[in-house]
Amino acid sequence: MDKKITIAIDGFSSTGKSTLAKQLARHLGYAYVDTGAMYRAVTYYAMDKGYITDEHFDKQALINDLPHISLQFLFSPEKGFAEMYINEHNVEKMIRTLAVSNKVSRVAELSEVRAMLVKQQQQMGAGKGVVMDGRDIGTVVFPDAELKLFMTASPETRAKRRYLELQEKGDKASYEEVLKNVQERDYIDCNRQDSPLVKAADAIEIDNSKLSIEEQFEKVMQLVQNAV
Ligand code: DC
Repeated sequence: MDKKITIAIDGFSSTGKSTLAKQLARHLGYAYVDTGAMYRAVTYYAMDKGYITDEHFDKQALINDLPHISLQFLFSPEKGFAEMYINEHNVEKMIRTLAVSNKVSRVAELSEVRAMLVKQQQQMGAGKGVVMDGRDIGTVVFPDAELKLFMTASPETRAKRRYLELQEKGDKASYEEVLKNVQERDYIDCNRQDSPLVKAADAIEIDNSKLSIEEQFEKVMQLVQNAV
C-alpha cells in the first residue's frame, strides 16, 4: 500500500473513534490527529482562566486570547501516543475529565475557535497519510478525504463505555451523569450553527453497538484497501 490517503473519522462522542483511528494509524504508519483534544484543550484554558463556569461564559475574553493559545501534540514514548500541550504545559490528563466534557460543546460552538482549529488541522494533514477524528473532518476540514467513516452506537452503549473509562482513571462520575453528558453533547454538536455534526453524503456509516474492536478493525481495513 504505497499511496497515502486521508482518513476522516466523524461521529458521536464515545463511539470509539479514537480507538479505531489509533489502530489504523499504527497499522498504516500514518499520523493520528485527535481533534477533540484540541477543542478540549481550548475549553480547559477557558476554565482555568475563569472565562467559563457553570454560571457564565465570557466568550469575548476567550476570543481575545486565541492568538496567545499555542496547541501542540508531543509524542510520549512511555505512553505510546501524542499528548496535548497548551503553551508548553502538558494538559493531557486535565482535558479528559467530565468537568471539561461538560463545557466543551459550548466552546466548540464558537466560530472563532473553530476557524483557528480547522486551519491548524488542515496544516497537520496537508501531506496526507493521516487519520483524523472529530465531528467535521469529512465535511469541513477534509471534504476531499479519500475515505470517510461515520461512527454511531446507541447513547446507552456509549455512556457505558465512557463511564468505565472514567472509572479506570479514578473519576467518580455516576453512569447517569455520563449518560446525561453524552445526550447533551449529541444535542449541541448536532444543532450548532457552525459545522454541526452531520454525516457527509459520501461517508460510510459504521454502527459498532454490536461489533468487537477486532471485527470493526477488519471491516475498516477492507475499506482502506478499496480506497487506496
Ligand atoms: O471527540 P471528543 O469527545 O473528545 O470531542 C470533544 C468535543 O469537541 C465534542 O463534544 C465536540 C467538539 N468537537 C468538535 O466540535 N469538532 C471536532 N472536530 C472535534 C470535537
